[in-house]
Amino acid sequence: MNLVFKGDIVFSEKAISDRVLELGKKITDDYLRENGPGVEVSVVSVLKGGFVFLADLIRQIDLDLTIDFMAISGYQKDGRDYPGVRIIKDLSESVYGKNLLLVEDIIDTGLTLSYILRNLESRQPREIKICALLDRAVRRIAPLHIDYVGFEVGEEFLVGYGLDHLQKWRNLRDIRALS
Ligand code: IMP
Ligand code: MG
Repeated sequence: MNLVFKGDIVFSEKAISDRVLELGKKITDDYLRENGPGVEVSVVSVLKGGFVFLADLIRQIDLDLTIDFMAISGYQKDGRDYPGVRIIKDLSESVYGKNLLLVEDIIDTGLTLSYILRNLESRQPREIKICALLDRAVRRIAPLHIDYVGFEVGEEFLVGYGLDHLQKWRNLRDIRALS
C-alpha cells in the first residue's frame, strides 16, 4: 500500500457501490416508465471530477446510452476567482432533441452547474435530468432541481472516487475528508 491518505472515510467503497447500483436501477426504471422501451439517453459528464462516478454509474444503467464530456474552467486574475466559467472542452456530439442526463461528482454552490445548464438548454435537448453523486445543499447559491442524488454531504472538503484536492487523490477508492 503505497498511497496513504490520513483523512477519515466518509463514504466507503462498499457504500458507494451499493448506492451507485440503486441509482442505476432507479434511472433505468424512470426512463423506461416515462419514455417506454427503446428510450435512448445521452449521458454528459463534466471533467474531471465526474469520470469515476460516470464509469460505475453507466454500467448500472440498463438502457441504450451514449456518453460525452465537457470541461470548464473558472476565471482567475491575480490569484482571485471571478464570476462565470468558460468551456475549455465542448461536447463532441449534438444534444438536440436528446434525453440528456448530466452526471456530476458534487454540487456545491451550484454556480458551475447552473452555467452549464443554461448553455446546454440553448442546444435544445428534449429534456435535461441531473444526477449528482454528492449534494452539498448547505452551500447552494444557485437554486437547482437535482433529479438523482447519491448522498447529501456537509461542509467538509472531500477527496477520492474522482474528487481531487490540487489534482491529487482522485484514485482513492473511498471518499474521505481532507484533514
Ligand atoms: P460549485 O459551482 O460550487 O457547485 O462547484 C462544484 C465543483 O467544485 C465540483 O464539480 C467540484 O469539481 C468542486 N468541488 C466542490 N466541493 C468539492 C469537494 O469537497 N471536493 C472536491 N471538489 C469539490
Ligand atoms: Mg465537477
